[in-house]
Amino acid sequence: MPWLTQMNEQLASGHRAVPFAGERTVWEYLKGLPHHNELFLDMMHGVTTQTHVKDVVESIPIGDAVTVMDIAGGVGGLGCALAQNFPINVVVCDQPENAERASEHIRMMGVTDRCNFVGVDMFDSVPAGGDLYLIKHALHDWADDQVVVILKNIARSMRSDSRLLIIEGLLDEHLRDNTEDIEFMYVRDLEQRICTFGRVRSIADFELLACESGLKITGISHSRVVDISYIECQRL
Ligand SMILES: C[S@@+](CC[C@H](N)C(=O)[O-])C[C@H]1O[C@@H](n2cnc3c(N)ncnc32)[C@H](O)[C@@H]1O
Repeated sequence: MPWLTQMNEQLASGHRAVPFAGERTVWEYLKGLPHHNELFLDMMHGVTTQTHVKDVVESIPIGDAVTVMDIAGGVGGLGCALAQNFPINVVVCDQPENAERASEHIRMMGVTDRCNFVGVDMFDSVPAGGDLYLIKHALHDWADDQVVVILKNIARSMRSDSRLLIIEGLLDEHLRDNTEDIEFMYVRDLEQRICTFGRVRSIADFELLACESGLKITGISHSRVVDISYIECQRL
C-alpha cells in the first residue's frame, strides 16, 4: 500500500502518504481495490471485536437509549455486540459497498431482529430517529473541515434530546504521566497523520469542532483502553 511503500518520499516531502499516492483519501483509494478493501475491513473488524468491544460494552454511557445509530460502523462489530448486550435497536451506517459483509456479520451474530445495516455517505446525510448516535474511530482519519461536515450532518439528524458519543482516543491530560499510554497515542497520531488527513485530537480540539458543527460537549469519560474515550455531545 502506498502509505507504506512511499513513506520515505512522503516524509521527505512533508505530504501525507495516501494523498501523495494520488491525491485521494484512504477510502477512495480502497474503493478502487476491492481486495485491499476486504483486508482493511477484516483488520478494522478484528481490532474492534478483539480489543475494543468488551471494554466498550462495559463502559459505554448508553443511558436510556432505545435506537442507536452507529455512524461509520464498519461491518457491525460494535453494533452487534451492543445489540447482544443491551435492549436496544442498532442501525449500522457505513458505505453501501460494505452492505453484504455487514449483513452477513449481523446474521452470524444472531441479532437480525434488532440490528440492521444502512448504506450512507456521511458527507451527505445520516439517518434521523436515533436516541443515541455513535461514531467510533471514524473522525481521527479526517481533517478538521471534513470532521465539521460529518458532525453537522449528525447534528442535523439529531433531536434536541438525542446524544452523540464520539468514541476515540484523546491526546490529553487524562493520560497524565503514563508513558506507555502517551507513547501509544502518539503512535496512533503518527499513523493517522501519515495515512490519512486526520490526527488524534484533544478535548480542546473537539470543543472547537463541536461548536462549529452546532453541538456542545456535555460529558467526557474514559475507559480502561487508552484508545477509547467518550466525548458526549448534544445539539446546541
Ligand atoms: C477506521 S474505520 C472504523 C469502523 C468502525 N467504526 C470501527 O470502529 O470498527 C472507518 C469507517 O468509516 C467508513 N467510512 C469512510 N468514509 C465513509 C463515508 N463517506 N460514509 C460512511 N462511512 C464511511 C469506512 O467504511 C470505515 O468502516
